[in-house]
Amino acid sequence: MTRGSETLRNWNVRKTIVAREEMSEHHRLAQTLSWPHLIALGVGAIVGTGILTLTGVGAAKAGPAVILSFAIAGVICACAALAYAEMATMYPASGSAYTYSYVVFGELIAWVVGWSLILEYSLVVSAVAVGWSGYASGFLQSIGMAMPAALTNGPELGGLVNLPAIFIIAVVAGLLIYGTRESATLNAFLVVVKLLALALFIAVCLQVFDIANFEPFMPHGFAKHWGAGPDGKPLEVGVMAAAAIIFFAFYGFDAIATAAEEAKNPDRDLAIGIVGSMVMCVLIYMAVAAAAIGALAYTHFANSPEPLALILRGIGQDWAARILGLSAVIALPTVILAFFYGQSRIFFVMARDGLLPQRLANVSKRGTPVRITVFTAIIVSLIAGIFPLEEIAALANAGTLAAFVAVCAAMLTMRRRDPDAPRKFNTPLPWVIGLIGIAGCLYLFWSLPVKTQTYFLIWNIIGLIVYMVYSSPRAEQARAADAVRLSGQPAVPTEAGTIS
Ligand code: ALA
Repeated sequence: MTRGSETLRNWNVRKTIVAREEMSEHHRLAQTLSWPHLIALGVGAIVGTGILTLTGVGAAKAGPAVILSFAIAGVICACAALAYAEMATMYPASGSAYTYSYVVFGELIAWVVGWSLILEYSLVVSAVAVGWSGYASGFLQSIGMAMPAALTNGPELGGLVNLPAIFIIAVVAGLLIYGTRESATLNAFLVVVKLLALALFIAVCLQVFDIANFEPFMPHGFAKHWGAGPDGKPLEVGVMAAAAIIFFAFYGFDAIATAAEEAKNPDRDLAIGIVGSMVMCVLIYMAVAAAAIGALAYTHFANSPEPLALILRGIGQDWAARILGLSAVIALPTVILAFFYGQSRIFFVMARDGLLPQRLANVSKRGTPVRITVFTAIIVSLIAGIFPLEEIAALANAGTLAAFVAVCAAMLTMRRRDPDAPRKFNTPLPWVIGLIGIAGCLYLFWSLPVKTQTYFLIWNIIGLIVYMVYSSPRAEQARAADAVRLSGQPAVPTEAGTIS
């Protein structure tokens, strides 16, 4: 047998969810979260840098039809959210799309999905930390405490290191190590701050709402194509090109699914948490986008790094702009918290399965995975300290879209493979929702910048090499060790490819 075929021989081995009681104690996460915590975790993750910064980028690509881009990205995310809710309640174990793929499709697809989730979660943490750094530096400057530019920008932007970004990552990592419950409660408070700031934005903008700002509605057409941005430079434009970027603003509800193992009542709370936070955020976004365009012609705020504050200043409401800016500094860490939480749990579960180094998977006495949190903090700090924001966000979308496709496909596969299995949450019209979710995510992926698609391909080639050389053999050893611990018998692969 060649080495290549040996390393791929477990590609279709499927995972069985190990009951919490059967896990060894140092691998068990504490069950501390109820549904209000989960909705707060979801809204905390969803509403953030996307609505605050990417609304302008979207307007540059789609014009007033950016509202349509919001609706399209929202509908596709909602389909994926429903599939997530069904899978999360069927398999209430940490790991979200990675775990569902392992159970439904086997080790190789699970690895590809886990590898994509690592990309998504780490890049979102890094991107939002860099965004926070921008707001924080601006705020410090406004109170006469400006930091040297070399310490607020990475090397690609002519600086040395982005210190505020690394600082906020360290703070959030500390909260997560201290304990999940405490972090989620603080998160709920900060979510309220963020929602109040957006409500203020809408209320102020509505006073000057002008329907004429919506004409012409779709200046760059629908499908992605090369055109020119408002500054005349070549740009990939169209409603779908905007939707593919704005998509960043919508995801985050999947962070709740990664918390399944820590939910007090996963069957009920996860469905409420995922669907509830998604619906809330779609409505908020549509309202904010409509208020923004109605208040000021989009050409004035397209491509602005702080479009919402700029709109408020543009209509002479500087006081509201200052409140919005300060709220962003206070509340953006909720997004970092939710994705950091999700990231450390993905690492944790992949390590527990043996696909990543297993000693990383141990939890502390407080029930939190300290080593994996510190490891994650180091990686995302390096990315945040070095790379530019826009490229990070687009690549995060690519990873997320791959995970969403896998979850919709897993939901449909289980409907066919085991239609009578008990489901605590049933996706309505599963074939319609599932297929719209898959087709929509593929179309959004196609609508991403070509550069991003290329980077994503490279990331996955690296992933497959790691899988064959390191992860697959280690996962086999981990399964064998688990089988011995649980039954005293060695693991035997069955014909179906599952482990008996
Ligand atoms: N949805 C998150 C945000 O907008 C990633 O920041």
